[in-house]
Amino acid sequence: MRLDKYLVEARKGSRKEIQSMIKKGYVTVNGSKSVVAKQQIREDEAKVCLLGQPVFYQKNHYYLLNKPAGVISATEDKSDRTVMDCLSKSDQRDDLFPVGRLDKDTEGLLLLTTDGVLAHQLLSPKKHVDKEYQATIHGIVTEEDVQNFSAGIRLKDDFLCKSASLTILKISEEKGESNISLVIQEGKFHQVKRMFEAVNKKVIYLKIVRMGSLVLDEALGLGEYRPLTQEEILLLKKNKKS
Ligand code: URA
Repeated sequence: MRLDKYLVEARKGSRKEIQSMIKKGYVTVNGSKSVVAKQQIREDEAKVCLLGQPVFYQKNHYYLLNKPAGVISATEDKSDRTVMDCLSKSDQRDDLFPVGRLDKDTEGLLLLTTDGVLAHQLLSPKKHVDKEYQATIHGIVTEEDVQNFSAGIRLKDDFLCKSASLTILKISEEKGESNISLVIQEGKFHQVKRMFEAVNKKVIYLKIVRMGSLVLDEALGLGEYRPLTQEEILLLKKNKKS
């Protein structure tokens, strides 16, 4: 790959800016200062530094989106806005896709990536990756529900869920509502809603706040997104908690 393309893909600037930095001698390749924009480098081997700092080249793209309600987690749709429409035109690419499906009315953390291997690791039930939700429930969630979720809830279609960690955050007796947090390691269609239906309660607001080590960035407003940091990418790949 050309050196200037490599640095553009590593998000170090526009091609024009990078060419100027190369000319100014800010870039070294394997310790050498005599570099030119068009020189070919092996992206998996070359040690490229910009102003003395190593450049971390990323073949794949990773974005953390704070999904708003009203958009669907798909790459395209005939009638609805999709999560891809939340990205600026310059970040939209045909090979980006959302990791997992959130309902249209669900908000919160959604990873958009081109990395199919990572997506598989995060979604495979065998990998036991936590998905942490916060929800408002119509109904009073009880300690008995907590025990039942821990033992494994049987959905109305007879599917037996794995043990889930349900925490009661707040009960509002007047409103007849509960705020809860729920950590599951599965991702069946409408799973959280169906788990509460199984105990005769209704999810009225649902937000996902964590997937494995990746935590929703509260600085992102609904519909906003940012690239993942190198640390977030590495932790996700290792499936380790931050
Ligand atoms: N469970 C649900 O019911 N809906 C979602 O969007 C995600 C998990």
